[in-house]
Amino acid sequence: MAAVKIGIIGSRFQADCIAGAVKATADDAEVVAVASPTPGHAASFAQRHGIPHPYTDYRELLRDPAVEMISITAPNRLHAQIAIDAARAGKHVVCEKPLCLTLEEADGMIEACRRAGVLLLYAEELFFAPKYAKAKQLADEGAFGRVHLVKQGEKHSGPHSDWFWDVEQSGGGAVMDLGCHGIAFCWWFLGKRKVKSVYSHMTTQVHHGRTQGEDEAVTIIEFEHGAVGVVESSWNRPGGMDDCIEVFGDKGQTYADLLMGNALPTYSETGFGYAVEKAATTRGWTYPVFEEHWNYGFPQEMRHFARCVRGKETPISDGETGRVVQEVLYAAYASAGLGRKVMLPFRPQGIAKPIDLWKMPERAQAAL
Ligand SMILES: NC(=O)c1ccc[n+]([C@@H]2O[C@H](COP(=O)([O-])OP(=O)(O)OC[C@H]3O[C@@H](n4cnc5c(N)ncnc54)[C@H](O)[C@@H]3O)[C@@H](O)[C@H]2O)c1
Repeated sequence: MAAVKIGIIGSRFQADCIAGAVKATADDAEVVAVASPTPGHAASFAQRHGIPHPYTDYRELLRDPAVEMISITAPNRLHAQIAIDAARAGKHVVCEKPLCLTLEEADGMIEACRRAGVLLLYAEELFFAPKYAKAKQLADEGAFGRVHLVKQGEKHSGPHSDWFWDVEQSGGGAVMDLGCHGIAFCWWFLGKRKVKSVYSHMTTQVHHGRTQGEDEAVTIIEFEHGAVGVVESSWNRPGGMDDCIEVFGDKGQTYADLLMGNALPTYSETGFGYAVEKAATTRGWTYPVFEEHWNYGFPQEMRHFARCVRGKETPISDGETGRVVQEVLYAAYASAGLGRKVMLPFRPQGIAKPIDLWKMPERAQAAL
């Protein structure tokens, strides 16, 4: 198969991850362009990763005939416009999580890609994380009997870039940033069943001075067949990124710890270069990860997306997946605002960003 030519939009944290992931799947994909508005960033990113075409405006990248598929690694508030522009330019779209800020944007992205005949692929790497994929394979084989409870937690000490803390740009706090992974995970793990209700408790425990968003949340998702997903999201856990699942059925259970559970328990008095994402120190006891991208599933995800573009695989995570997550995000914020569970379908119109449903519960009430 000819390698799919990718243009990355954005040049910082997640862009580095995607460029590294694509290198690890070089037979299927290659990065040929990058766009980022900060002067010099696209050029230095291109040099670091051996990418031939750096651009400062993503619209220029969209005019590059070499680019077949784009990867959006820009702040959340830009996802919808970039995706729609890319579809109009005839490029397949990989969009990082969350899909966008509003349900209207999600609909617009899906419609633009459908009309243009390009794929809209939702980058939820947990579907490809080998340890989690193994847990799902066991569940699908019946190893745990009827699975009735799935828990996913993603926690760290808070995001690296200012825009995540500004709810106008991010759309919300830890649930928007991390909870979107857990929502997608529980939905996928339990067979993509319809969501019946959502209850979420959100608080700001530590970072009042930095954000209006929640930094601590527990979200309970009830599915139509009675199984339950529990998603824990936190920006208040120093010590490095933590990503875990627990799966329970009437015939068994499994536990998986994606990072610490795949690391080397290490003691060092001198410290060393890098342990794990968001770890503030490498002195004392730490948990350095190895094959970090592979353990998360990023190369496997990009390989799958490239093969989807060539018609060799069918997307397991697409725009519809992102829209399911978006509706649960709306319901979670509404639930936190109303102090009660919210039944789906829940599709309030004209909401500027999900967190408004928490901060302005009257908007949530009007949509019930
Ligand atoms: N899948 C994951 O696990 C994961 C991890 C981290 C981030 N993400 C997602 O990836 C996206 C980017 O996050 P990040 O951590 O890389 O943020 P970041 O702040 O590190 O990088 C954002 C990049 O977007 C660029 N940008 C800003 N405005 C732009 C514009 N108009 N056109 C093109 N580029 C523009 C910035 O210059 C910067 O390079 C977010 O949506 C985030 O939620 C996903």
